[in-house]
Amino acid sequence: MAAELIFELVTELLGAAAECAFNGVTAAVKKKYKRADFRKKIAKAADIIQNGGVVAFPTETVYGLGADAFNATAVERVYAAKGRPGDNPLILHVANVAQFLELVEAPPAYALALAKAYWPGPLTLIAKKKYHLPGWVGGHPFNATATVGVRIPKHPAALALIQAAGCPIAAPSANKSGRPSPTSAKHVKEDFATGEVDMILDGDISNVGIESTVVDVTGDFPVILRPGAITREMIEKTTKLHLPNAAGPAGQTTSVASQAPRSPGMKYRHYAPKAPTSILQGAEKNIAAYILQQCEERPGEKIGVYVREATKKHMGEKPPTNAVFIPLSGKPETAAQNLFNDLRQFDAKNVSAIFAEALTEAGVGVAIMDRMRKAAEGNVLDV
Ligand code: TXA
Ligand code: MG
Repeated sequence: MAAELIFELVTELLGAAAECAFNGVTAAVKKKYKRADFRKKIAKAADIIQNGGVVAFPTETVYGLGADAFNATAVERVYAAKGRPGDNPLILHVANVAQFLELVEAPPAYALALAKAYWPGPLTLIAKKKYHLPGWVGGHPFNATATVGVRIPKHPAALALIQAAGCPIAAPSANKSGRPSPTSAKHVKEDFATGEVDMILDGDISNVGIESTVVDVTGDFPVILRPGAITREMIEKTTKLHLPNAAGPAGQTTSVASQAPRSPGMKYRHYAPKAPTSILQGAEKNIAAYILQQCEERPGEKIGVYVREATKKHMGEKPPTNAVFIPLSGKPETAAQNLFNDLRQFDAKNVSAIFAEALTEAGVGVAIMDRMRKAAEGNVLDV
């Protein structure tokens, strides 16, 4: 009940912030969020968190698997449920900047500029941990970390949950380690058995669709550890700083692929559908020809084809019957939103291989290609 009261207060207090958090959230979520029964669900989820339970909750990027960040037993349950290695720290989700400042040592001015510009939103800042906090907070209870990753999510249900719980919520993406991240409550249900998660808060699909941009703000310059919807260009513009370690085509690929993993999560197999995946890079007609040949050589198998409409056209009026098509949007925001659901769809359709067309690596395209390459375990073919 206490949690429900807090929620009522917070909804009023947040006022403008909550309204702003609605931007980009689907009408279905807006409507759901305002309903009394959904508010009761948030209160219930907050009570579970306060009592050391584990709750899967929606964010605008992907669903998170949350626990009270200061409850070691609860955090350990999150690691166990995910099958996550203990050396891979978690993101702490907070509801406002004051809560962020309680977790970190004075961040540099450029970090605050980023927070001001993009919170609430799909940005995680890795900062020096406040000296008096328990060494393990932000990671596995058996590991000490000098830094913490923090973000304020934009999804209204996530914000309301954090406020009602009254504590930072430690949450990795709510998928089993190595599986594509979840962008709907259905995806969470696919990965977890009852008992592993105490409650799943259903907040419709995550509209960004890929995980937050992770930026290390412990040094003189921001360093992108994981690309996301907040792009390199946006970060450079906001901070008026030039990011070091730019490499790759058109200077777009950030540090991620080329650097030693400063963000431990980047070294593990990720986002992988069950079928071996290949990324095809080249002219539309070459990509189409390559896939046609694969379909022809493997008549008894279902071949997953993940290409743009324009590329599919090159496969002729009557594409092979063993090809299973899922359209890939040429619009980066839409491609990002659909990516993880599409990978899971290929699993559901039992394809034995997936051929995906490479997208242009600019803006959000950098983050999409980062996830696609990981899904393909680096298997990129020039055709
Ligand atoms: O959008 C997101 O970020 C989602 C939603 C739920 O907020 N969360 C998410 O969490 O993607 P996860 O655990 O799947 O990815 C967190 C990434 C990992 O690569 C992890 O290594 C990195 O952030 N990370 C977290 N804390 C860190 C730290 N203190 N230092 C370096 N990297 C850190
Ligand atoms: Mg993850």
